[in-house]
Amino acid sequence: MVYGIQIAIDGPAGAGKSTVAKMTAEKLGFTYIDTGAMYRALTHKALSEDIDINYEDAMKHLLEDTEIRLLPSTKGQAVLVDGVDVSEAIRSQEVTKRVSAVAAHPSVRLLMVDKQRQLANDKGVVMDGRDIGTDVLPDAQLKIFLTASVEERALRRFKENSVRGNATSLEQLQADISERDRADSERKASPLRQADDAVLIDSTAMTIEEVVDKISELAEERMVR
Ligand code: DC
Repeated sequence: MVYGIQIAIDGPAGAGKSTVAKMTAEKLGFTYIDTGAMYRALTHKALSEDIDINYEDAMKHLLEDTEIRLLPSTKGQAVLVDGVDVSEAIRSQEVTKRVSAVAAHPSVRLLMVDKQRQLANDKGVVMDGRDIGTDVLPDAQLKIFLTASVEERALRRFKENSVRGNATSLEQLQADISERDRADSERKASPLRQADDAVLIDSTAMTIEEVVDKISELAEERMVR
């Protein structure tokens, strides 16, 4: 049994973080917190209210007036914005394309990080994102930096999309993923980078189960008895 440790999983878009984080949380009986979903939720609300996402002050105020809740569901996690279930809507192409710009605003990040730390308080959590090990939970007992080649990440997205009936080409997905990597790594506020004490896992040639097993083993080693 592993008691109440914090596990931070960071890495680029499409590396499989959310699937792996969700499954690891389930295996260990921990709470899963998808921080990307929180940036997506804010982006979705701004788009539906016609708010200019590039206007930092407006985005900060919007976040102050927004209640974002993450609830366990049969599909892993439901995302509620002001009481409305937006779990599907936040995965749209439109939100995916705009979310990096929203996540680049320093004042938005400050508020989000605050909310994320409150959610992680005092319990076993698996939290995934871009800045969890470096900024949100710097004292996490286990930090993972999960990556995979751009080609492999695009292929995984392509397969996921086909199930959902989305026909975006593989080339387009590769270009989109490369662009998001660039935006997330080059932004000034908490750019995506591997924490010094994070364990690097390259999942290019690994199955999801292999990655989950590896992380669970590391968690067991670091458990607090
Ligand atoms: O993991 P995702 O694709 O749902 O993330 C959506 C966007 O939010 C992505 O462009 C990076 C950003 N993000 C972030 O900046 N910090 C986090 N902790 C999580 C996500």
